[in-house]
Amino acid sequence: MTFSRQIKIAPSILAADFANFGAECRAIEDQGADWVHVDVMDGHFVPNITFGPATCAAIRPHIKGFMDVHLMIAPVDSYIEAFAEAGADLISAHLEAGPHIHRTLQAIRATGKKAGLAINPGTGIDAVAHLLDLVDMVCVMTVNPGFGGQKFIHSQLDKVRALRKMIGDRPIHIEIDGGVTVETAPLVVAAGADVLVAGSAVFKGGSVGNPAPYGVNIAAIRAAAIA
Ligand code: DX5
Ligand code: ZN
Repeated sequence: MTFSRQIKIAPSILAADFANFGAECRAIEDQGADWVHVDVMDGHFVPNITFGPATCAAIRPHIKGFMDVHLMIAPVDSYIEAFAEAGADLISAHLEAGPHIHRTLQAIRATGKKAGLAINPGTGIDAVAHLLDLVDMVCVMTVNPGFGGQKFIHSQLDKVRALRKMIGDRPIHIEIDGGVTVETAPLVVAAGADVLVAGSAVFKGGSVGNPAPYGVNIAAIRAAAIA
């Protein structure tokens, strides 16, 4: 895939019907999703548990496009191979998940997958400067990770602006994760983001039996983002 800063909407299946992941992934792509964002939580790094590599492998055949796997787990390194084999296109690890993020990013790249670096709201970007050669994306968390449906933390916008400046011409995406809505989408895009994760704002009002609202929601976020 050639690098582009065109806005990409990445619905998070954390807000999907967990009994119907395959159908939900097909539905959001049919309804205009650019990427599918997959939130892996371990009940240790974050206070919630979702699913692991076996579920990622099971949903992979239902995703035609790009599978963006967000690992909220610690430790990370021992599981990278499993998520790569499960079919992730990009694997993000958290800067806060362990003492050796540089090694972790090298390990992700070594699988042939794209590497993402996720940073919590309380983390600054100084350390990111030393990791830019190893990443294809930086994911700025605009909520504390662990749950969908939380309120967007506005103080992160300054961080996104600084990160955008730091990245310059490098082919590195900036992803925003948490509290993205029609209201916050224009703010994050103006600050320099190009990948917008949205869980509750995409899935609200719809279901696998009635997926049209997903399309309406995705279109509304995209329109607000590019206005
Ligand atoms: C939070 C997850 C997010 C979350 C986004 O820990 O990483 O992807 O599901 O959900 P909303 O869009 O509802 O904030
Ligand atoms: Zn996420």
